[in-house]
Amino acid sequence: MIEAVDPATAEQITIDLHLPPGGPLSGMAADVRAGLTKPFKELSPRYFYDERGSILFEQITRLPEYYPTRAERAILEHHSAGICATAGDPATLIELGSGSASKTRVLLDAMDSAGCLEAYAPVDISEQITRDTAEAVASEYGIAVHGLVCDFERDLERIPLSGPRMLAFLGGTIGNFEPAQRASFLARVANLLGPEDHFLLGTDLVKDRERLEAAYNDSAGVTAEFNKNVLSVLNRELGADFDLDAFEHVAFWDDENLWVDIRLRSLARQVVDVPSLGMSVPFGRGEEMRTEISTKFARDGLTGIYAEARLEMVDWWTDPEGVFALSLARRAG
Ligand code: AVJ
Repeated sequence: MIEAVDPATAEQITIDLHLPPGGPLSGMAADVRAGLTKPFKELSPRYFYDERGSILFEQITRLPEYYPTRAERAILEHHSAGICATAGDPATLIELGSGSASKTRVLLDAMDSAGCLEAYAPVDISEQITRDTAEAVASEYGIAVHGLVCDFERDLERIPLSGPRMLAFLGGTIGNFEPAQRASFLARVANLLGPEDHFLLGTDLVKDRERLEAAYNDSAGVTAEFNKNVLSVLNRELGADFDLDAFEHVAFWDDENLWVDIRLRSLARQVVDVPSLGMSVPFGRGEEMRTEISTKFARDGLTGIYAEARLEMVDWWTDPEGVFALSLARRAG
């Protein structure tokens, strides 16, 4: 379905809607059922981001302990011109998980200054945010904006447009993917790229345990609230009766898997009802359920991960402190 929005910029903006009929949460019931039935229970981090979860995440990005967002912005501010040039002055920026595109503007500015910027394609699961972002960018830059509202893990191949393009996946969200899921996602990205296209990826980096654990156990308790908010989402969407006070936030660095492991620990033996799944879910006292992994990378490891997906790292930039990286890759020849 293609539909124009704001009449003032209608010729410049198109929004494609590819959400499943049940909306963004349509696959949730089956997914949550599978996760709660495993011996080591788990929930997908994608359900964190309802309205409250998105606000809590915004707050996380401003916490003193949570360095990734500031570090990634610093890299963009220092290196956008170089990134743009190394990517061959792309005409189109496609952004996966664009949200409000606040960091993206730094890249768009660099493309604009280089004189190559022709179009922007935000890809996001939220229709409202995509529309708002599309209108704002179209009017600020006077360029064509082709928004795509979809689950980019499912609908990656729907991404249109012709090259030279730069496909950006910022924020370190790739860290949430399990290794197999990440491998297949990157292989699909490689398949999408034409010979002139580039992939720009934001990755948080391996660093000392103290700094990593502090970033996910902030002293203000915002990350704990963000983590527990997934239980409120299940309560609202599936009629579950999770008692948020009966769980505590857990986050620790796993130096074998190279990820921060984020869990909710049941403070008591309890049974949670999930009526719309027809399930009663028992939790032991102290039982932990995984809600997220946040993988951290190093240059060599990422080069190997790219290679397995038939991607070739072209260049890599870090912030002055070296805590976060942006890397640019192309399809392996
Ligand atoms: C948005 C996935 C990059 O993994 O650091 C922040 C989410 N979780 N604090 C991350 C998150 C807990 C964040 N990403």
